Amino acid sequence: MAYNTLVVTTAQGVQTITFNRPKALNALNSELLNEFSQALEEVVSNEAVRVLVLTGTGGKAFVAGADINELARLDTLKAKVFIHRGLSVINKLAELPIPVIAAVNGFALGGGLEIAMACDFIYAAENASFGQPEIKLGIIPGYGGTQRLPRMIGPGAAKELLYTGKMISAEEARRLGIVNTVTAAGTLMDEVMACAREMASKGRVALRAIKQTVNQGLSVDLASGLRMETDAFALCFASADAKEGTAAFLEKRKADFKGGLTD
Ligand code: CAA
Repeated sequence: MAYNTLVVTTAQGVQTITFNRPKALNALNSELLNEFSQALEEVVSNEAVRVLVLTGTGGKAFVAGADINELARLDTLKAKVFIHRGLSVINKLAELPIPVIAAVNGFALGGGLEIAMACDFIYAAENASFGQPEIKLGIIPGYGGTQRLPRMIGPGAAKELLYTGKMISAEEARRLGIVNTVTAAGTLMDEVMACAREMASKGRVALRAIKQTVNQGLSVDLASGLRMETDAFALCFASADAKEGTAAFLEKRKADFKGGLTD
């Protein structure tokens, strides 16, 4: 499907969704959020897509946040509807059953950082910058920034970013634990794609089980998390991938994971 505000490409099991409003630094307006929601539905229903990569067009921005033109028109009731709509898209992203990498190629501010944090992990170009600048607009983050950022980097570091609205560099974001890897700007997509293809070659059922167990386990106590892991471990043995992976090891060959269930 063709979009106005997104570019979608797929190769070797990896789909890339590129946010594409370069004149507004890829800010999230309603059209972009609607199209992103539609694109995520298509990812879920397309078994050929094993890993998703998100990035921004134009070399300057990943996403510079919610569209401030739309924010400026809100009152309290409209703000609630507005944020519910956007948050439902971010939740859909966070709950995708496949791994998602944010390839942050420039500004990841406000809703942009919130999208990146809803991915499984972040690679960043050395020129990227990160922040939750909502305080400078007299508001607060609405797509998860007050919740995901403290869980990611601890409450003290998160509050400093949230209270000041300051921007930090890719290297500082890596030091804080927001970013896994910082690359030269010219090699970001090559490094992200190498990582994505590596994951795409793994078993779909096991990838999904790891994602669900890690994400759900983070909000429960250790004993409950370990019980979830036990159940997910056992369920993996309903997959053809578990048979293939163990057989391939014993036969000293490379596993060929198809992603299906055993008959
Ligand atoms: N919404 C709408 N338009 C935006 C935008 C945004 N978030 N960010 C940038 N733009 C537009 C600018 O208005 C400008 O448009 P014009 O050329 O038509 O004037 C264009 O993008 C280029 O931006 P700048 O000229 O400002 O570029 P710069 O390099 O001087 O500055 C910047 C870049 C520091 C990112 C600056 O644009 C900026 O501060 N943007 C706003 C960032 C922000 O506050 N984001 C949070 C939004 S609130 C939010 O996200 C709430 C939430 O949690 C849901």
